[in-house]
Amino acid sequence: MKKIAIFASGNGSNFEAIVRYPDKKYEVALLITDNEKAYAVKRAEYLGIPFLIFNPRDFKDKNDYEVFLVRKLRQYEVDFIVLAGYMRIIGSKLLSAYENKIINIHPSLLPAFKGKDAISQAFLYGVKVTGVTIHLVNQDIDSGMIIEQIPFYINNKMTINDLEKEIHKIEHANYPIVINKFSEEGVL
Ligand code: GRF
Repeated sequence: MKKIAIFASGNGSNFEAIVRYPDKKYEVALLITDNEKAYAVKRAEYLGIPFLIFNPRDFKDKNDYEVFLVRKLRQYEVDFIVLAGYMRIIGSKLLSAYENKIINIHPSLLPAFKGKDAISQAFLYGVKVTGVTIHLVNQDIDSGMIIEQIPFYINNKMTINDLEKEIHKIEHANYPIVINKFSEEGVL
């Protein structure tokens, strides 16, 4: 069984869905967060998942921060990294230590609507189809090889809140499935 680390900076609903998924082919070894106030930390507490909180500002630079993270990840024998709302760009240390072993979920059909607030970007643009993308992480934001995409049709009566709920439902249902496949087969 592969061991994964989940990186999250905020709410952590994907983290919880990944932990609770019944038919796991992976073990969630730990949560790593850069935000001590992240609700993901509360979830880790009640789910009984080890967590580590780091403030990147306590390190000399990104390189130092990531050297330290890699050491921790090795201690926990982490096979691959799952980003779930982690609000930092992954640098070269982590990328080379976990080459093709870092995945991310993004709430739009990439390459459309990269970056922050993708759900509202798509809604405000007025697209009729949006969705969720799960992809490998590389040095550029939201640009790595696409592993899976799940489309969703926006109907005319939907509010942005409705759309957010639907997108999150899709994320929670699909991210664990992709992580399972990734655990068994590596890059798909
Ligand atoms: C998700 O919408 C994910 O696609 C994006 O950040 C959000 C994280 O939500 N990368 P949560 O913290 O898992 O609730």
